[in-house]
Amino acid sequence: MNDFLFKMPTRIRMGVGLSANIGAILKDEYGYQKVFVATDKGIVKAGIIRQIEEGLQAGDMDYVVYDELIPDPTIEVVDAAAAILHESGADVVLAVGGGSPIDTAKAMCMLQTNKGSVRDYLFGGSKTVQNESLPLLCIPTTAGTGSEMTAASVITNNQKKTKVSVTHENLIPKMAIIDPALQTGMPAFITATTGMDALTHAIESYVSLNANPVSDAMGLAAIRMIGEHLRTAVSDGSNLSARSHMAVASTIAGVAFMNGGLGVVHGIAQTIGAVAHVAHGTANSLLLPYCMKRNVIGNLEKFRSIAIALGENVDGLSLREAAERAVTAVFKLAQDLKVPMKLKQVGVTRDMFPQIIEGTMAYRLLSVNPCKLTPADIGAILEEAFE
Ligand SMILES: [Fe+2]
Repeated sequence: MNDFLFKMPTRIRMGVGLSANIGAILKDEYGYQKVFVATDKGIVKAGIIRQIEEGLQAGDMDYVVYDELIPDPTIEVVDAAAAILHESGADVVLAVGGGSPIDTAKAMCMLQTNKGSVRDYLFGGSKTVQNESLPLLCIPTTAGTGSEMTAASVITNNQKKTKVSVTHENLIPKMAIIDPALQTGMPAFITATTGMDALTHAIESYVSLNANPVSDAMGLAAIRMIGEHLRTAVSDGSNLSARSHMAVASTIAGVAFMNGGLGVVHGIAQTIGAVAHVAHGTANSLLLPYCMKRNVIGNLEKFRSIAIALGENVDGLSLREAAERAVTAVFKLAQDLKVPMKLKQVGVTRDMFPQIIEGTMAYRLLSVNPCKLTPADIGAILEEAFE
């Protein structure tokens, strides 16, 4: 067993309808004076911000809503939002949304106490985070990214067509407020692809070379919950039990991957997000089974455990056969959820392969993927997933 340090600084507070108490939580539990609500227009349109505002007003909390955040945030959008936050005089940020608003808010909070542009702090940049961020609390509106629990903020560099992260402990949110009632209106396709993103976090962290027994326990628990509840959350979005289990599984998977790491699925997904503008959840759900097929020999025992957690009967099978059932189970899940299963369907073309391979090989966490992969290996995965 490797030596390890397990981190989980974020408090988790979960309850159906909890957002009605958000004003009291911020004011009475934490003593904050003014909240900067950071979100995007889709979340406003879905009626979620109205509910958050009611909760803030009920707690007599001073607030301002900023809804100019965008999917796949760019350096420019982060820097502009950070300047507006600075002008607002708020002493806490409440991020409401999927992974993009939460990632943007992490970088905005960091820039309140660390000088310069977010560009300076990206992986390989000229500065490192020194000071504590402005406090951040998060209300995830999808069950997928787990970003509410992690230290990373993924930012798009439009000039270079790359996605790179700022990763530092000071970016970790103070609290995740999980209200599954806010997720019942999430469309089936978003539920499916973000749920598969959560499954990818759980599986990649579990088989990672950097996994430890605590992240293993959390990863496996999340895999089991997602296997049991994702189909129902997609087919019946109003099912609060399925929504609750998916919301919690996503958060647990976030903790698992912050500690255990990720792997080749995220390496490719992050790159095709920047090169071909494929949404993160869509990219992961498409790539996960193909990458598992390549990785299975890297840890047969753990892939066998994944198969069992996903409900496969492995009695009488050899270790290799049982491990391969994990791949079969994820292909079946993807088919049931009707997510795209070929890169050609989502706008990736063969002439993008060299750039995708180069970006994936540069991915920071490829080093903890269970198998060492070469550019030719990445090319073979892309070819199999293409059409
Ligand atoms: Fe992800």
